[in-house]
Amino acid sequence: MVAVTPIVIGNWKMNGLQAAVSELEALETAFKAQAPACEVMLCPPATLIAAFAGRAQGTPVLIGGQDCHFNVSGAHTGDISAQMLADAGAKAVIVGHSERRTDHEETDDTVRVKAEAALACALTAIICVGETEAQRDAEATLDVLTAQLTDSVPDGAAAATVIVAYEPVWAIGTGRTPTTSQIAEAHGHIRRVLTDRFGSEGEKMRLLYGGSVKPGNAAEIFAVPHVNGGLIGGASLKATDFEVIVRAIPA
Ligand code: PGA
Repeated sequence: MVAVTPIVIGNWKMNGLQAAVSELEALETAFKAQAPACEVMLCPPATLIAAFAGRAQGTPVLIGGQDCHFNVSGAHTGDISAQMLADAGAKAVIVGHSERRTDHEETDDTVRVKAEAALACALTAIICVGETEAQRDAEATLDVLTAQLTDSVPDGAAAATVIVAYEPVWAIGTGRTPTTSQIAEAHGHIRRVLTDRFGSEGEKMRLLYGGSVKPGNAAEIFAVPHVNGGLIGGASLKATDFEVIVRAIPA
């Protein structure tokens, strides 16, 4: 297994007002006292990106967006482009989160063009995949992952600019997590699919687990082979919880 630098990413979803900068400040204080053993990123709502990016400069905390449009600019009321995110100080953007796939009917093709837009603006694309509970019950998990990876990850994807997050839909925000052997099976499969397609870049691409990661289960999940960090929703909103999760990455 190739050694890669892990990353823990907090996805705040539609949570956080201006006052939530205090959580970022608490993280910075904690990381000043003891540097994290991995990369750390927060993806706050778009309204907070510029302020957070300014505040986080010179600290170990990177700032990312939660979604982008596939065009650079134009008549798309309410949308935000990758270029705008980069301009606001974001270094990365999540694309294809299951909440976007469900709430906004995003397909794998939409996700791929969004990832391409991110890469064109020098943002890292954090591409999410994962099966529904019905698909897992039908023993279709690995086929679903193969199809999502094939159609959502752009050609030419490289380890420095693409991160893949495995997020079983049934584990997101539910408090339910797969067993470590289910995570190992999914991550091993994702690694094989990416390596078959991208060679050594696929071997080095970071694979994150997401879905009900908490302070109490993070260490066990991060110890699974081919888990190179996590995408954390609810438990990333409080700096104290998020810090414990970041510290669960082995030094
Ligand atoms: P959760 O969300 O940690 O609240 O389950 C994870 C995610 O959706 O990225």
